Amino acid sequence: MELLKQRIREEGIVLNNRVLKVDSFLNHQIDPQLFKAIGKEIADRYRNAGVQRIVTIEASGIALALMAALELDVPLVFARKKKSILMVDDVYHSVVYSYTKEENYDITISKKFLPAGEKVLIIDDFLASGEAAMGLAKLVKDAGDEVVGMAIAIEKSFQPGRERLENAGFRVESLVRIKEFKDNECIFLED
Ligand code: G4P
Ligand code: NA
Ligand code: NA
Repeated sequence: MELLKQRIREEGIVLNNRVLKVDSFLNHQIDPQLFKAIGKEIADRYRNAGVQRIVTIEASGIALALMAALELDVPLVFARKKKSILMVDDVYHSVVYSYTKEENYDITISKKFLPAGEKVLIIDDFLASGEAAMGLAKLVKDAGDEVVGMAIAIEKSFQPGRERLENAGFRVESLVRIKEFKDNECIFLED
Protein backbone atom coordinates (compact mmCIF):
# COMPACT_ATOMS: atom_id res chain seq x y z
CA MET A 1 0.00 0.00 0.00
CA GLU A 2 1.90 3.00 -1.34
CA LEU A 3 0.17 5.59 0.86
CA LEU A 4 1.19 3.80 4.06
CA LYS A 5 4.75 3.24 2.81
CA GLN A 6 5.02 6.92 2.06
CA ARG A 7 3.96 7.87 5.59
CA ILE A 8 6.45 5.42 7.06
CA ARG A 9 9.21 6.93 4.89
CA GLU A 10 8.24 10.46 5.90
CA GLU A 11 7.43 10.05 9.58
CA GLY A 12 8.56 6.63 10.78
CA ILE A 13 11.47 6.52 13.21
CA VAL A 14 13.57 3.36 13.43
CA LEU A 15 15.07 2.79 16.85
CA ASN A 16 18.24 0.68 17.15
CA ASN A 17 17.48 -1.08 13.85
CA ARG A 18 14.79 -2.95 15.79
CA VAL A 19 11.58 -1.04 16.33
CA LEU A 20 9.66 1.26 14.01
CA LYS A 21 7.96 4.13 15.79
CA VAL A 22 4.86 5.36 13.97
CA ASP A 23 3.38 7.37 16.81
CA SER A 24 2.57 10.38 14.66
CA PHE A 25 -0.09 8.61 12.56
CA LEU A 26 -0.76 5.10 13.88
CA ASN A 27 0.16 4.18 17.46
CA HIS A 28 -0.56 7.40 19.32
CA GLN A 29 -1.84 10.20 17.12
CA ILE A 30 -4.14 8.70 14.49
CA ASP A 31 -4.69 10.02 10.97
CA PRO A 32 -8.35 9.34 10.15
CA GLN A 33 -7.98 9.76 6.37
CA LEU A 34 -5.09 7.32 6.29
CA PHE A 35 -7.07 4.89 8.44
CA LYS A 36 -10.04 5.20 6.12
CA ALA A 37 -7.80 4.18 3.22
CA ILE A 38 -6.34 1.31 5.27
CA GLY A 39 -9.83 0.08 6.09
CA LYS A 40 -10.76 0.18 2.41
CA GLU A 41 -7.59 -1.69 1.41
CA ILE A 42 -8.17 -4.44 3.98
CA ALA A 43 -11.82 -4.72 2.98
CA ASP A 44 -10.90 -4.95 -0.71
CA ARG A 45 -8.54 -7.86 -0.03
CA TYR A 46 -11.21 -9.79 1.89
CA ARG A 47 -14.33 -8.57 0.07
CA ASN A 48 -15.16 -12.05 -1.31
CA ALA A 49 -14.12 -14.07 1.75
CA GLY A 50 -17.52 -14.01 3.42
CA VAL A 51 -16.24 -12.25 6.55
CA GLN A 52 -18.92 -12.09 9.26
CA ARG A 53 -16.92 -10.62 12.14
CA ILE A 54 -13.60 -8.90 12.76
CA VAL A 55 -11.43 -9.71 15.77
CA THR A 56 -8.51 -7.57 16.94
CA ILE A 57 -6.61 -6.83 20.15
CA GLU A 58 -6.43 -3.70 22.25
CA ALA A 59 -5.13 -1.09 21.97
CA SER A 60 -3.59 -0.27 18.61
CA GLY A 61 -5.55 -2.79 16.57
CA ILE A 62 -8.91 -1.27 17.36
CA ALA A 63 -8.88 1.87 15.22
CA LEU A 64 -7.62 0.02 12.13
CA ALA A 65 -10.06 -2.81 12.61
CA LEU A 66 -12.95 -0.39 13.04
CA MET A 67 -12.32 1.15 9.63
CA ALA A 68 -12.25 -2.28 7.98
CA ALA A 69 -15.37 -3.37 9.89
CA LEU A 70 -17.22 -0.28 8.72
CA GLU A 71 -16.19 -0.95 5.13
CA LEU A 72 -17.17 -4.66 5.29
CA ASP A 73 -20.27 -3.82 7.36
CA VAL A 74 -19.60 -6.45 10.03
CA PRO A 75 -19.30 -6.28 13.84
CA LEU A 76 -15.92 -5.79 15.50
CA VAL A 77 -14.77 -7.29 18.79
CA PHE A 78 -11.41 -6.69 20.44
CA ALA A 79 -9.59 -9.02 22.80
CA ARG A 80 -8.75 -7.52 26.16
CA LYS A 81 -5.31 -7.87 27.71
CA LYS A 82 -5.07 -8.75 31.35
CA LYS A 83 -2.03 -9.01 33.56
CA SER A 84 -3.17 -11.78 35.87
CA ILE A 85 -4.83 -15.02 34.95
CA LEU A 86 -8.50 -14.85 35.72
CA MET A 87 -10.17 -18.08 34.72
CA VAL A 88 -13.79 -17.23 34.26
CA ASP A 89 -15.99 -19.47 32.22
CA ASP A 90 -17.84 -16.82 30.29
CA VAL A 91 -14.72 -15.85 28.31
CA TYR A 92 -12.45 -17.46 25.76
CA HIS A 93 -8.90 -17.21 26.99
CA SER A 94 -5.41 -17.48 25.56
CA VAL A 95 -1.86 -16.73 26.72
CA VAL A 96 0.42 -14.53 24.60
CA TYR A 97 4.13 -14.03 25.09
CA SER A 98 5.41 -10.49 24.51
CA TYR A 99 8.98 -10.50 23.23
CA THR A 100 9.27 -6.76 23.69
CA LYS A 101 8.10 -6.88 27.32
CA GLU A 102 9.45 -10.38 28.01
CA GLU A 103 6.32 -11.49 29.80
CA ASN A 104 3.17 -13.50 29.27
CA TYR A 105 -0.18 -11.85 29.25
CA ASP A 106 -3.73 -13.13 28.97
CA ILE A 107 -6.11 -12.19 26.23
CA THR A 108 -9.83 -12.72 26.61
CA ILE A 109 -13.05 -12.25 24.66
CA SER A 110 -16.51 -12.69 26.16
CA LYS A 111 -18.23 -15.76 24.76
CA LYS A 112 -21.30 -13.69 23.99
CA PHE A 113 -19.34 -11.59 21.49
CA LEU A 114 -17.91 -14.58 19.64
CA PRO A 115 -20.85 -16.69 18.50
CA ALA A 116 -20.01 -20.07 16.93
CA GLY A 117 -20.12 -20.86 13.24
CA GLU A 118 -18.89 -17.54 11.83
CA LYS A 119 -16.14 -16.59 9.39
CA VAL A 120 -13.74 -14.27 11.20
CA LEU A 121 -11.04 -11.89 9.96
CA ILE A 122 -8.20 -11.12 12.39
CA ILE A 123 -6.60 -7.66 12.22
CA ASP A 124 -3.57 -6.13 13.94
CA ASP A 125 -1.26 -3.17 13.45
CA PHE A 126 2.13 -4.94 13.53
CA LEU A 127 3.23 -8.47 12.69
CA ALA A 128 6.52 -9.35 14.36
CA SER A 129 6.68 -12.73 16.10
CA GLY A 130 3.06 -13.53 15.37
CA GLU A 131 2.30 -14.25 19.02
CA ALA A 132 -0.69 -11.93 19.23
CA ALA A 133 -2.21 -13.21 15.98
CA MET A 134 -1.75 -16.86 17.03
CA GLY A 135 -3.41 -16.08 20.37
CA LEU A 136 -6.34 -14.41 18.64
CA ALA A 137 -6.70 -17.37 16.26
CA LYS A 138 -6.90 -19.70 19.26
CA LEU A 139 -9.78 -17.67 20.73
CA VAL A 140 -11.61 -17.74 17.42
CA LYS A 141 -11.16 -21.50 17.01
CA ASP A 142 -12.16 -22.18 20.61
CA ALA A 143 -15.39 -20.35 19.83
CA GLY A 144 -16.08 -22.74 16.96
CA ASP A 145 -15.43 -20.10 14.31
CA GLU A 146 -13.30 -20.17 11.16
CA VAL A 147 -10.35 -17.82 10.66
CA VAL A 148 -10.65 -16.73 7.02
CA GLY A 149 -7.45 -14.74 7.22
CA MET A 150 -5.39 -12.08 8.88
CA ALA A 151 -4.80 -8.49 7.84
CA ILE A 152 -1.81 -6.59 9.18
CA ALA A 153 -0.89 -2.97 8.55
CA ILE A 154 2.90 -3.31 8.95
CA GLU A 155 4.75 -6.61 8.67
CA LYS A 156 8.37 -6.93 9.78
CA SER A 157 9.21 -9.65 7.28
CA PHE A 158 12.60 -10.38 8.86
CA GLN A 159 10.84 -11.63 12.00
CA PRO A 160 9.20 -15.07 12.09
CA GLY A 161 5.55 -13.99 12.32
CA ARG A 162 4.41 -14.48 8.73
CA GLU A 163 6.06 -17.88 8.41
CA ARG A 164 4.49 -19.03 11.66
CA LEU A 165 1.03 -17.95 10.60
CA GLU A 166 1.36 -19.43 7.11
CA ASN A 167 2.69 -22.69 8.52
CA ALA A 168 -0.41 -22.79 10.69
CA GLY A 169 -2.47 -22.51 7.49
CA PHE A 170 -3.59 -18.89 7.69
CA ARG A 171 -3.89 -16.44 4.81
CA VAL A 172 -1.84 -13.36 5.71
CA GLU A 173 -2.37 -9.98 4.00
CA SER A 174 0.06 -7.26 5.03
CA LEU A 175 -0.37 -3.76 3.64
CA VAL A 176 3.32 -2.97 3.99
CA ARG A 177 6.18 -5.47 4.31
CA ILE A 178 9.52 -4.39 5.75
CA LYS A 179 12.46 -6.42 4.53
CA GLU A 180 14.94 -4.97 6.97
CA PHE A 181 16.09 -1.96 8.93
CA LYS A 182 19.38 -0.61 7.63
CA ASP A 183 21.14 2.37 9.17
CA ASN A 184 17.85 3.09 10.92
CA GLU A 185 15.99 3.29 7.60
CA CYS A 186 13.15 1.03 6.42
CA ILE A 187 13.86 -1.15 3.40
CA PHE A 188 10.58 -2.43 1.98
CA LEU A 189 10.24 -5.89 0.48
CA GLU A 190 9.26 -4.83 -3.04
CA ASP A 191 11.94 -2.14 -3.36
P1 G4P B 1 3.78 -9.95 18.01
O1 G4P B 1 2.61 -9.09 18.37
O2 G4P B 1 3.92 -10.14 16.52
O3 G4P B 1 3.83 -11.24 18.72
O4 G4P B 1 5.10 -9.21 18.42
P2 G4P B 1 5.77 -8.76 19.78
O5 G4P B 1 5.34 -9.60 20.93
O6 G4P B 1 7.21 -8.68 19.46
O7 G4P B 1 5.16 -7.31 19.90
C1 G4P B 1 4.61 -6.77 21.07
C2 G4P B 1 3.98 -5.42 20.82
O8 G4P B 1 4.85 -4.58 20.06
C3 G4P B 1 2.69 -5.44 20.05
O9 G4P B 1 1.91 -4.34 20.46
C4 G4P B 1 3.17 -5.23 18.61
O10 G4P B 1 2.14 -4.73 17.80
C5 G4P B 1 4.25 -4.22 18.83
N1 G4P B 1 5.35 -4.15 17.86
C6 G4P B 1 6.16 -5.13 17.41
N2 G4P B 1 7.11 -4.64 16.61
C7 G4P B 1 6.88 -3.29 16.54
C8 G4P B 1 7.53 -2.22 15.86
O11 G4P B 1 8.53 -2.35 15.16
N3 G4P B 1 6.99 -0.98 16.05
C9 G4P B 1 5.89 -0.75 16.83
N4 G4P B 1 5.43 0.51 16.92
N5 G4P B 1 5.27 -1.74 17.48
C10 G4P B 1 5.76 -2.99 17.34
P3 G4P B 1 1.29 -4.27 21.93
O12 G4P B 1 2.32 -4.21 22.98
O13 G4P B 1 0.36 -5.43 22.03
O14 G4P B 1 0.61 -2.92 22.11
P4 G4P B 1 -0.55 -2.04 21.48
O15 G4P B 1 0.20 -1.08 20.63
O16 G4P B 1 -1.45 -2.88 20.65
O17 G4P B 1 -1.22 -1.45 22.63
NA1 NA C 1 1.36 -2.18 18.95
NA1 NA D 1 -0.88 -4.65 18.24
